[in-house]
Amino acid sequence: MKTSVALIAAAALAAKASAACWSQNLGYPCCSSSSAKVEYTDADGKWGIENGNWCGIPAATNSASCWAKALGYNCCTSTTQAVYTDSDGKWGVENGDWCGIVTGGSSSNNSSSNNGSYDDSNPSIGSQYTHSGNPFKGHKFFINPYYTAEVDAAIAQMSDSSLIAKAEKMKEYSNAIWLDNIENMQNWLERNLKSALAEQNATGQTVLTVFVVYDLPGRDCHALASNGELLANDADAARYKSEYIDVIEEKLKTYISQPVVLIIEPDSLANMVTNIESTPACAKSEKYYYDGHAYLIKKFGVLPHVSMYLDIGHAFWLGWDDNREKAGKVYSKVISSGSPGQVRGFASNVANYTPWEDPELSRGPETEWNSCPDEKRYIEAMYKDFKSAGIKSVYFIEDTSRNGVKNDRFHPGEWCNQMGSGIGARPQASPIAGMDYLDAFYWVKPYGESDGTSDESAKRYDGYCGHRTAMKPAPEAGQWFQAFFEEGLKNANPPL
Ligand code: BGC
Repeated sequence: MKTSVALIAAAALAAKASAACWSQNLGYPCCSSSSAKVEYTDADGKWGIENGNWCGIPAATNSASCWAKALGYNCCTSTTQAVYTDSDGKWGVENGDWCGIVTGGSSSNNSSSNNGSYDDSNPSIGSQYTHSGNPFKGHKFFINPYYTAEVDAAIAQMSDSSLIAKAEKMKEYSNAIWLDNIENMQNWLERNLKSALAEQNATGQTVLTVFVVYDLPGRDCHALASNGELLANDADAARYKSEYIDVIEEKLKTYISQPVVLIIEPDSLANMVTNIESTPACAKSEKYYYDGHAYLIKKFGVLPHVSMYLDIGHAFWLGWDDNREKAGKVYSKVISSGSPGQVRGFASNVANYTPWEDPELSRGPETEWNSCPDEKRYIEAMYKDFKSAGIKSVYFIEDTSRNGVKNDRFHPGEWCNQMGSGIGARPQASPIAGMDYLDAFYWVKPYGESDGTSDESAKRYDGYCGHRTAMKPAPEAGQWFQAFFEEGLKNANPPL
């Protein structure tokens, strides 16, 4: 019996392989995710572009409906055992043929268990939820189905079974959803809020969703790799407000019965602390960054179910004594400008690699006289400095997605796709006993998404992505970077 099932499965696999994604029959690869940007639609389907080539966008894996139908297969009726996983989803075998598994998977930590699927129903919105104390505490953390699909597509490219097992575990942990342009905000904000709410309604347990607000005019002013769609001018600043912040506000005001955390505009205020004089683009962005923050804090900071953390770079950016002192002034001014809106605290190490603890380092020539040469010491110092600067609510979250090991970078200022990196501590509320002002370790940067392209001819090429310790060839910021992901799995600390 066993043998015949195996044989049937093998035969079915061979049949499926040729039809795994519709574009393969036309001689084009599948795009790595069903959420890839649609560049062109024709009678065959939706087309995206990856690595300079056309690719077919696979049918979404993320509907609770029978997704396999669109590919010419039935949905499984009894089995939930996945025999094969590809960018379309999980496949089982029934009656000698492939079937698409609609539900399956499990979750063991405080992450939610939405099985990597969106719920596009219209869940009923309950009464107002109000944060009290640590916004990360007491909730399931929502799993972003887009990330699950990215990992599934990555697994489909892997053959080492121990690495595949590690990759599978990545789907159990939550990471942030980046609203990195107007279109992505429109596509992902409400959809994820709805899915988290549906799960909350179904399980009776609150489900926390974390978004990154990331579209300021003149974004990434000191670098090039993450330059955004809006420029530092009045017209684009008006669009930031009306087409981006106001729309987010409207959705947040609709979905009031679930907890939400917002990480605000990575790198922007840290650039205001250190790069106004040295970088004309940052001087140009200055008024828009400040105005944008005041605007959004006033709007989001009065919503009881929403908590905000302003980005503070990382230990090797604002850790020096003079930078921290200046930061106290900049951040207290920004928070006051958003009154009556409230800010819960600050996010450190977003998309960076600085280890949580690095006891070998101390202030001296090796650290360029930085008295905060690891994240723990940085947050301890910032806590004191921000309190002295008169900031009332001083709590932190630490992005631990990429700081599991001390990587190969030759200078802590290296930020682009560093070789030898490893996944860090798992998302968790109140991770350090006695450090009451540390709300959470959380994965803000989705592991495996690139920091910037290494293609020197690209418009957003930044020299840092060509440096000796930057992994190459690397795709554009935010795009999937398979080799980087696989290295992170191997080096994960704690191991996956
Ligand atoms: C990119 C964004 C992306 C984010 C998460 C940033 O570096 O600029 O486009 O969404 O990383 O990967």
